[in-house]
Amino acid sequence: MTGRLTAALALGLVAIGALLSVGAFGLVAVLLAGAAVGGALALLAGRWNRAANRAARLPERRGTLRPGAGMAMLDALPDPVISLSRRANVMTANRAARLAFPALGQDEPLSFALRDPRLLEAVQSVLDKGGEQRCALSFRTPVERAFDCRIMALEAAGARPEAAAVLVMTDVTEQRAVEAMRVDFVANASHELRTPLASILGFVETLQGPARNDAAARERFLGIMADQARRMARLVDDLLSLSRIELKEHLAPSGTVDLAGLLGQTVGALTGLARDRGVVLSLEVPPGPLMAAGERDELTSAFENLIENAIKYGKSGGKVEVSLVRAEPPGEAIIAVRDYGPGIAAEHLPRLTERFYRVDNALSRAEGGTGLGLALVKHTLNRHRGRLTIQSAPGKGTTVLVSLPCPPAVM
Ligand SMILES: Nc1ncnc2c1ncn2[C@@H]1O[C@H](COP(=O)(O)OP(=O)(O)O)[C@@H](O)[C@H]1O
Ligand SMILES: [Mg+2]
Repeated sequence: MTGRLTAALALGLVAIGALLSVGAFGLVAVLLAGAAVGGALALLAGRWNRAANRAARLPERRGTLRPGAGMAMLDALPDPVISLSRRANVMTANRAARLAFPALGQDEPLSFALRDPRLLEAVQSVLDKGGEQRCALSFRTPVERAFDCRIMALEAAGARPEAAAVLVMTDVTEQRAVEAMRVDFVANASHELRTPLASILGFVETLQGPARNDAAARERFLGIMADQARRMARLVDDLLSLSRIELKEHLAPSGTVDLAGLLGQTVGALTGLARDRGVVLSLEVPPGPLMAAGERDELTSAFENLIENAIKYGKSGGKVEVSLVRAEPPGEAIIAVRDYGPGIAAEHLPRLTERFYRVDNALSRAEGGTGLGLALVKHTLNRHRGRLTIQSAPGKGTTVLVSLPCPPAVM
């Protein structure tokens, strides 16, 4: 920051000083914590006006206020804050603003660095008519970012009237990404449900019309309809499990489970499926129980999902090995599910836990998959403070590793 820039900040600094002196520590704490930053900043700007007016009236007793401290505080804010002159030139820019918009230049028009016409129009309107304006701003390069911008007029504050407006930008990139994901999710879920539904409706029409008296066709079609209806039921079950587990994700599990016993039962329940696919399923566990804090049902379905995946997608390897070991130093248990199937190419690995992401759509559907299994596993492990690692390479099979904390109290 240059000396001029610091001097130009005086208005804000005096305002911050007044703000502190009226006991608004709560607000400052909120600001520094980064929570509700947008709203708090708007409040701050509002107070700037009032506080600056008050400051103009106050005698010079604020020798304790160091300009550097005020700038440091603005620099600590996670959101860009820019003060503007009456001619829309940049007067001050905090650290977040300088990082986000390196082209910002002291005393240079804001439009040199930020060209968005909606933003510049909003700024001009505030400079002409006062008050407050809001607008959305988004960029695709160098990285995708979205901001919610507020431009607020600063009343002329006696001694230092240069700053005419302040532009506060709240980074809403993450929020937008979450919104986009929700929209995608609803679209995907609807699509997944619509496909079997369309097939059922098609067969109903055929049975009502051309195949009305064809007993053989009726049997066959009813079989397909039952399959499609079961697929819809699985999808709805998985969607419900996903929303239930998401709701509970922040709550630590209350139960205690013996992982060795749980894996023994899960593997036992899946030997039939393995036999059907020509897969030898084996389990290796250390002697005695290995206790972990966890919900039995949730962990059971997570391991079922992983072992089923290994059997269904890795069946060409002919064997699936499940193992449980105590990690060294103790405090963690590691469960590995290893198959010798076709493996997974590197580009898919980071996306496997996304909802509805499948490497091979047709194979997943043929195997009765919903594309939600690994998403469920991920959320279950998040709740259990566990970790999921998928190691795989084409032709080398796949190993899925799960680590779960086993605090000494429950070991
Ligand atoms: N052991 C594995 N070997 C190869 N591919 C796998 C394995 N496990 C999962 N996958 C791939 O990851 C995708 C997502 O798995 P999952 O979320 O369980 O959904 P699905 O319902 O399709 O099984 C599967 O469709 C499959 O393409
Ligand atoms: Mg699966």
